[in-house]
Amino acid sequence: METFMGGQGLKFEAWNISRLLVNQNQNQNKKYFFHTSFSMINILLGALVVVLVLLIAEKFRKSSISFLSKSSHSAKKQLKSSQEGLPAGLSRELLPKHVAIIMDGNRRWAKNRGLPSMMGHNAGARSLMKLVPICSDWGIKVLTVYAFSTENWVRPQVEVDFLMKLFEKMLSKELEKFMRNDVRVSVIGDSTKLPESLQEWITKVTETTKNNSKLHLILAVNYSGRSDIVQACQSISHKVKDGLIKPEDVDESVFSQELHTKCTEYPYPDLLIRTSGELRTSNFLIWQLAYSEFYFDESLWPDFGEREFVKALSSFQRRQRRFGGQDKDKMGDKISKQSNSN
Ligand SMILES: *[C@@H]1O[C@H](CO)[C@@H](O)[C@H](O)[C@H]1NC(C)=O
Ligand SMILES: *[C@@H]1O[C@H](CO)[C@@H](O)[C@H](O)[C@H]1NC(C)=O
Repeated sequence: METFMGGQGLKFEAWNISRLLVNQNQNQNKKYFFHTSFSMINILLGALVVVLVLLIAEKFRKSSISFLSKSSHSAKKQLKSSQEGLPAGLSRELLPKHVAIIMDGNRRWAKNRGLPSMMGHNAGARSLMKLVPICSDWGIKVLTVYAFSTENWVRPQVEVDFLMKLFEKMLSKELEKFMRNDVRVSVIGDSTKLPESLQEWITKVTETTKNNSKLHLILAVNYSGRSDIVQACQSISHKVKDGLIKPEDVDESVFSQELHTKCTEYPYPDLLIRTSGELRTSNFLIWQLAYSEFYFDESLWPDFGEREFVKALSSFQRRQRRFGGQDKDKMGDKISKQSNSN
């Protein structure tokens, strides 16, 4: 480095570029720069060298990952890319196809901060919209979320009105993103008495996203598992009465075709997540959850992010799914085939 004096030094520098790249030692670079050149021209030449070094370093960095593979950071990155975007430790083959979530804890989250419940619901909506692209990127096919149950109407009117507006705002605001990310949206539950403008947005978003296929986002609004079963019974009764089917033809497969979840190819959640430490299913998908793995997280829904989701998925992947005592693969295949053929 001491020999650096103008033009000759430049040549010397060119020789040493590869060594500099390995060292990546910018500090040293600056040090010799000030030690050795005092004339204006040398300062300019020196600056040129620094720029060249940086440019070449950048090119090297981009064109060859192996060049940097010694550092643990890029080693992690490589592991990630071999899993096609999945975090280390998760396996693609063992991912759930359908994840259902009871998004609990918005109000407590707000209360803990001395905020009105509405702020908690806002934060909850943001939390959901962060999870949607994650599910889509990692290859989960269906995400069903419990947004509003038939029991939630007893909440203060102002909060109910706010929630209805929030659903509407979310649907209108996110439609473009759903299209860009190939997300299909469906709404399950009894929406016939929801505010008209919300119903219009539900129709618009579900129709517009109908052909999207990467992720199916199912929003349960005014949903009740029992009501769903009851309306399925009514529908089947009408069909029997009209002579369309015989009573003895009614089996599980016929029945599941009358439930709201008939909208998806994978109606049975592999994994149910409930946040905020509550250990109940609260009338959510009660028919469909028969063989689901349950995962309960202590965090409140607005705090549930990628890290917590990875924990839930890891827990799911460590479990041996038994489907009522039978071997996981055989029975699992049977169950998913049943649901696919419906
Ligand atoms: C919510 O769903 C229940 C059960 O289907 C229905 O009786 C009720 O009218 C619905 N309420 C509104 C406001 O949509
Ligand atoms: C969905 O696909 C069908 C059949 O290809 C087509 O007729 C329809 O216009 C598409 N709908 C939307 C909203 O893209």
